[in-house]
Formats: sequence, structure tokens, C-alpha cells
Amino acid sequence: MKTILHYLDINNLDIKAIDEGAAIIRKGGTVIFPTETVYGLGANALSKDSVNRIFHAKGRPSDNPLIVHISNYDMLLYCIGEPLSEEAKKLIAYFWPGPLTIIFKKSKYIPEDVTAGLDTVAIRMPDHKVALELIERSMVPIAAPSANISGKPSPTAPEHVIHDMQDKVDMILTCSNTKVGVESTVIDISRDIPIILRPGGITKEELESVLGKVEIDAEIIGDEAPRSPGMKYTHYAPEAQMIIVKGDKPWGKILQMSHQDKEKGLKVGILTMDENKDKYKGFIVISIGKDNREAAQNFFDALRKFDEMAVDRIYAEAIKEEYLGLAVMNRMEKAAGFNIIEI
Ligand code: TXA
Ligand code: MG
Repeated sequence: MKTILHYLDINNLDIKAIDEGAAIIRKGGTVIFPTETVYGLGANALSKDSVNRIFHAKGRPSDNPLIVHISNYDMLLYCIGEPLSEEAKKLIAYFWPGPLTIIFKKSKYIPEDVTAGLDTVAIRMPDHKVALELIERSMVPIAAPSANISGKPSPTAPEHVIHDMQDKVDMILTCSNTKVGVESTVIDISRDIPIILRPGGITKEELESVLGKVEIDAEIIGDEAPRSPGMKYTHYAPEAQMIIVKGDKPWGKILQMSHQDKEKGLKVGILTMDENKDKYKGFIVISIGKDNREAAQNFFDALRKFDEMAVDRIYAEAIKEEYLGLAVMNRMEKAAGFNIIEI
């Protein structure tokens, strides 16, 4: 399949290119588009054949449900099979458009291929001009997972989607690097206490300021079967074996292990933050920034850079699990296959 490629300038949008994308969506094809979180691989959420093209392009297991992206409230009401609760209205008012996905009872218009047979549907309104224009002009909700090959780090830059998806989709619309850098937060508000199924771009702290107490799914904390089906797969994994080092002053332990690996002939990469980046002289070091917001923006790109440099092993410093740090550590632990050393 030959992919049509358009580079868009957010300050001077090529509406013709977006209309071309919308026509492809309406005809049942696949279009990759930028959102504020990561790039998405979209197709008409109302058509089961279209949606199956997404699973095929990504190599994604079909029992992992997709998020439906909308651009207006009529679309939301069309997709859901329940009246809007007070909690939903509040979340929508505070966080949409934005990186928050809400689970609703699905309407009969959403095929089970989107929801992997569940009677609920995950919906969000993305905060990105290109995404919103594309959905609006398609005139249908767009189902879209992250636009990476299944199991690989999510794409946050044009070169990531081109690397993974060229010639596997009908069109790629690229723009600048994505702003948030980790996927949306997935929240289930159907229970007495709302529960975060996947931490992401809207933090637990922000959600609690609007809803009061919010829980985090036990699987994320680490001791139960996943409720958000996508959480159970190997995810975000780089080619190299990755080891997380948690605790105070991690550099001593990391340096010791890195030197041992180097003697064995292994190529070592170290993932750190700005304040510690000068501690690892003689090794390949990538800093993901000065705070947890920058860490979220840069994390997936760092994993892909280590792959490009063909490192054999990555030692990663854990960061604090507060604000966006919770989402980053969730991705880091999955990328490392829960290979964690506590010091
Ligand atoms: O930021 C994002 O959310 C990106 C961009 C493209 O919008 N999309 C994304 O999609 O991350 P994906 O498919 O990679 O992740 C969807 C997540 C999975 O964890 C999945 O299990 C969960 O949402 N999910 C989808 N439908 C669900 C449902 N009905 N109930 C519970 N979890 C659901
Ligand atoms: Mg994904």
C-alpha cells in the first residue's frame, strides 16, 4: 500500500490535505494524525471493516479495545447509550478537549470490534487542531489507538510514525512533536469512587480537584488482573533489555552494573534526568528533562533513540510517581517488563 504523506504547519493549516484525509476516513481507509498526547492511527469508528484495518496495520490483538475520538457533543451523544452523569459533565467541562478518556455505556452504533465485545466505549475529545478538523470534516467519530507497531513505544514525533507505519496505512498527517508525550488518562466513573484504569496526561491530582477521591486500578499498583484490557500486553518495549533502578542516589548502583556490562562487551545506555546526567561519564546517556512534564514529553523518544544506537541494555532511573510522573513510571515499568532493582 502506498501511503500519502502530508507535513502540516499548525500555524498555517493545509485544509485541503485534511479534507483529503477526511475523504479517506469516510471511504473506510486509515489515516494517522497528531493529537496532543501521541499520534493516533484512525478509522471510521462506526464501521467494523474500517476498524479492523487498524488492528491489521498495527498488528494489534483484537481483544484490546480502541478509544473513540470525537470533535463535538452531538457525536458524544450518538456514541453513548446512557444519559450523561453529573461526574461526566464535570469532567467534560474541565478537561475536554484534552488528554482524558472517559468510559461510557456504548450505543448500538458502535460496533463490538471497537470495544472488543465490551458493552462500554472509551471516548475522548483531543486537544489538537488537526485532530479536531479531521474528525469534524470526516463527520464520523474516529477510533484510534496510538500509531505504533503493537508493543513498541508510542509515537510522539513525525519520524516515529513514518518509521513504524509507512506503507501500512492510506495517509499520514504529521505535524510537530506531540505536546504531552504520554497517552490520555483512562477513567471509569461508573462506580462510587471513580477509578483510573490508565494513568496519563490528566493527573490523579487534577482529577481529584474536580471529583474528590479517585482510586487507581490495583493492576497499576501491581496486584490484580487488568480492568483496562490494553494494560495486559507487553508494551512500549525497546529492543534492549531495560532495568529500572529505584531509590535514593541510584547512580552508584547504575555505574557499578554498567561497568560490569561494559567489561562483558555489552553496549549500555542510561536514562536519567538533567540533574544527574553528568554522573555517567563514558556511557551513552539520554536525559529526559528537568521535571516530570518534560519526562513525559521525552520518554518514548528516548526509548527509540536507544534502539537506533542499538544498545544492549538500558539502566533507567525511576522518577517520583506524582503528577505526570505516575504516567511515566507506568510506561517505564512496562517497557522494562517490571524488571526493577530497589536500592
Ligand atoms: O492518548 C491516547 O489515548 C491515544 C491517542 C491516539 O488518542 N490513544 C491511545 O489508544 O492510547 P490505545 O488504543 O493505545 O489505548 C487505549 C486504552 C487501552 O488501555 C484500552 O484497554 C483502554 O484504552 N480502553 C479502551 N476501551 C476501553 C473500555 N471500554 N473499557 C476499559 N478500557 C478501555
Ligand atoms: Mg498504545
